[in-house]
Amino acid sequence: MTLEEFRLLRDHVYSHCGILIHEDMKFVMERRLWPRLEALGLLDFSAYHRYLRYDIQRTAELEAAVESLTTHETYFFREPAQLKAFCDELLPILEKRNARTRRLRVWSAGCSSGEEAYTVAMLLKDSGRFNDWDVEVYGTDLSRRVLAVARRAEYGPSALRATPPDLLERFFVPAGLNRVRVRDDVKAWVSFGHHNLTDEATSQLLPRTDVVFCRNVMIYFDQAARRRVLAVIRDRLCPGGYLLLGHAENLLSLGADFELVHLRGDLVYRRPDLLGGEGR
Ligand SMILES: C[S@@+](CC[C@H](N)C(=O)[O-])C[C@H]1O[C@@H](n2cnc3c(N)ncnc32)[C@H](O)[C@@H]1O
Repeated sequence: MTLEEFRLLRDHVYSHCGILIHEDMKFVMERRLWPRLEALGLLDFSAYHRYLRYDIQRTAELEAAVESLTTHETYFFREPAQLKAFCDELLPILEKRNARTRRLRVWSAGCSSGEEAYTVAMLLKDSGRFNDWDVEVYGTDLSRRVLAVARRAEYGPSALRATPPDLLERFFVPAGLNRVRVRDDVKAWVSFGHHNLTDEATSQLLPRTDVVFCRNVMIYFDQAARRRVLAVIRDRLCPGGYLLLGHAENLLSLGADFELVHLRGDLVYRRPDLLGGEGR
């Protein structure tokens, strides 16, 4: 792969989904995309770039290319301190605020194979606050492959490595050797859909939500792509709704229009509510 070919492919991936691959990852890109060239019978990366731009199969191939370049690392009950702050400090606020509508919406944006969305649904069930409410947790991701895993809801030891034993007992049923399946009443609160966070137009079709978990997704984006995604998230959040990022992420220097909220157990972000909740 020449440097020029690398840059063409990098820019193509970036403009599709915001993921920016640095120049020192050129050899990784080359190694990961080479099987695609072989599968298509193409001789070099210039031909592959032309295929991605002009071939009738270009959309499917771009998905395959991005799939081979992205990481989907995730597991149940990731970042427990943040989840505790969510349960102890945000859920009481949301219960009070939405008491009239008895509706709660949570979006797991960049949900990978579903562990984060199911974790949230389990925490909502476990809190006992929303059991007769209209609750929906929806997970979205760019990768159709991981969404298929999410919908199947069957997991092995790696996904469960941080799951407390009592929650494992309560929210999963056995599903064969070393595998478990998410219980049906948890699944009933969760749905999944394909969505590109950098696509402002299709984002308009997503429902308004009370909380967004967007953890460990924007770390692969540059500042410009982060700004675009944050505008999408802000637009889909109800006024006063909360945004939870991964522990290595923050909105510093992005000039994003969110308030920083100091919880006892975590820092989270909130869409300003200019009407003080009167608008709902
Ligand atoms: C490392 S996983 C994080 C999963 C989960 N949020 C967590 O923290 O455990 C990042 C996910 O973001 C998804 N992703 C990356 N770019 C995206 C985009 N532009 N739109 C939607 N999802 C994206 C990837 O496909 C991947 O599944």
